[in-house]
Amino acid sequence: LRDKGLSEIKQATDLKTLNQKIRVQLLGKKGPIVKTLRGIGKLPVSQRPIVGKYANQVKGQLFRSLKKRNLELAKAKLNDELKAEKIDVTLPGKPVKAGHPHLIQVVMDHICDLFIGMGYEVLNGNEVETDEYNFERMNLPKHHPARDMQATFYITPDKNLLLRTQTSGMQARTLEKHDFSKGPLKMISPGVVFRRDNDDATHSHQFHQMEGLVVGKHVTMADLKGTLEFLIHKMFGNEFDIRLRPSYFPFTDPSVEVDMTCFNCGGKGCSVCKGTGWIEMLGAGVVHPNVLKNAGLDPHKLNGFAFGLGIDRFAMLKYGVDDIRDFYLNDMRFLSQFD
Ligand code: PHE
Repeated sequence: LRDKGLSEIKQATDLKTLNQKIRVQLLGKKGPIVKTLRGIGKLPVSQRPIVGKYANQVKGQLFRSLKKRNLELAKAKLNDELKAEKIDVTLPGKPVKAGHPHLIQVVMDHICDLFIGMGYEVLNGNEVETDEYNFERMNLPKHHPARDMQATFYITPDKNLLLRTQTSGMQARTLEKHDFSKGPLKMISPGVVFRRDNDDATHSHQFHQMEGLVVGKHVTMADLKGTLEFLIHKMFGNEFDIRLRPSYFPFTDPSVEVDMTCFNCGGKGCSVCKGTGWIEMLGAGVVHPNVLKNAGLDPHKLNGFAFGLGIDRFAMLKYGVDDIRDFYLNDMRFLSQFD
């Protein structure tokens, strides 16, 4: 029994067989050793110590052998597991696919960086605006014909709340807050604006503008031109010129439309610029005295310039996008080109 038991223990190759089968068979309650020890009382008195001692010896040997084999098998199992689960920390990792900023955001950030470099503050406005700030304070009283230039989405039936049609309301909002005793106001304000337009390749009912406003003691049209020239040179390259063309906005006087050398023909005239050699880029002008007055400021003491540019338009021209709707359709085939 002892030799058979010891060899079975030695040959066991897994812990389950060893403990649930072999151990139970040899040392279990119904096993031969326990039976023998229990039966001792039925033996003649002279044999009891001999049989008892021998049975206990065998029990001890089998017990120690089981314990040893248990340790061996447990160690082997652990080694196998460690080998199987080994991690090669030098293997290259799987790339994590991260998103990337939308092209509009990229262009917006680029323009913001340029103006931050010139000491401008960047301010965020609300997309829901009041009639007062979107129009009235910007020198567009009710029934002013120029309101028709910007077809409006109204929110409340009394037409006091609306989706802003331009970021220009931010001019009025910052003018009334700025402390001019501490220096001039220089701010830009990017954001989404809305107009009740029919969408096509160059129109979207929702697009992005960047407002710019500088107000101080001796701010001139020359400052405006230099600032916008810097912007165009940095965004498109030094070979592009700008020109100012008379225009009309209710909140600037004089008002100008700013053109840039046609990127397609370099100013020679082509179908893109309809033969003029120039591409229309943005609106700007000298801040209208009424806008300053509406903010409680004295137009004899302060003056300034303002501009408003279409971020989508800048993005389209810079990156060769020919349909503004692509910015809003969330088609990954379009968007991921600008990763
Ligand atoms: N708000 C004007 C527009 O939406 C742009 C503009 C801003 C023009 C500031 C002049 C000065 O068309």
